[in-house]
Amino acid sequence: MDRDSSAEPERRGGAFYDDPGVFERYRSHRRWAENPNVVMEEPAVIEEFGSVSGLRVLDLGCGDASTGRLLLEAGVASYLGVDGSERMVDAAGAALTDPRAQVVRCDIEEFDASAASFDLVLSRMALHYVADISVVFDRCHAWLAPGGRIVFSVVHPVVSSNDPRASTDQPREDWVVDNYFLTGPRYQLWLGAQSRWYHRTTEDYVRALQGAGFSLRNLRECPPDRARFENETEFRRRQRIPLVLLLSAGR
Ligand SMILES: C[S@@+](CC[C@H](N)C(=O)[O-])C[C@H]1O[C@@H](n2cnc3c(N)ncnc32)[C@H](O)[C@@H]1O
Repeated sequence: MDRDSSAEPERRGGAFYDDPGVFERYRSHRRWAENPNVVMEEPAVIEEFGSVSGLRVLDLGCGDASTGRLLLEAGVASYLGVDGSERMVDAAGAALTDPRAQVVRCDIEEFDASAASFDLVLSRMALHYVADISVVFDRCHAWLAPGGRIVFSVVHPVVSSNDPRASTDQPREDWVVDNYFLTGPRYQLWLGAQSRWYHRTTEDYVRALQGAGFSLRNLRECPPDRARFENETEFRRRQRIPLVLLLSAGR
């Protein structure tokens, strides 16, 4: 579905994060102790990774490679981060000094690798910026060695289907889920700028994985855990709607 596309510049998700204002807001947002990525998404992602010791890992839309640092500490054999944003790649390069790690600037849509060259493909909160998810999953399947896994999180379809007319940069008190089964680009005010996310249903993600030959292992919605919140009001707000969809599948 394409609403108000006349106002939207044609740029991919990485370029969105190269806007200096967006980049700074993103970094300060992630430093907030009760950021949902920190207290809700990351614990579920880490649980889903399980043991990573000795794995060759590819991270699509790696951002500043904070996940890479966690994985290197956990003993992965290698870590390759891919991101389309120059600012993010610079931040990742500055933070990663480990010889097992590498970061490249490349759009997810353009990246390619040898067959069976990874054991784990991960992507955190990036694939909702990609128009054709089936092509990406097909490639991921080929890049994984037998027994390999894909683990990824995206903005939950309940959020990406939010009516853009209700788009606000303020903490939300209500949400308007609309045209849920009408998939495609949607334009949201996010980090102070207009961003283009691709709305897909939960079923679309599962079908695209299965279509690429993956077997679904787990589906999670990352509910808030009271023990991770200091602020009761924030915890209650996070109980209202799902923010993150996390899927894990085997090759
Ligand atoms: C919300 S941030 C998440 C960063 C990181 N995965 C994390 O969770 O800390 C999304 C990242 O995906 C990158 N990204 C979005 N669309 C992209 C695309 N089409 N190709 C490459 N990178 C992309 C952005 O530059 C940004 O760094």
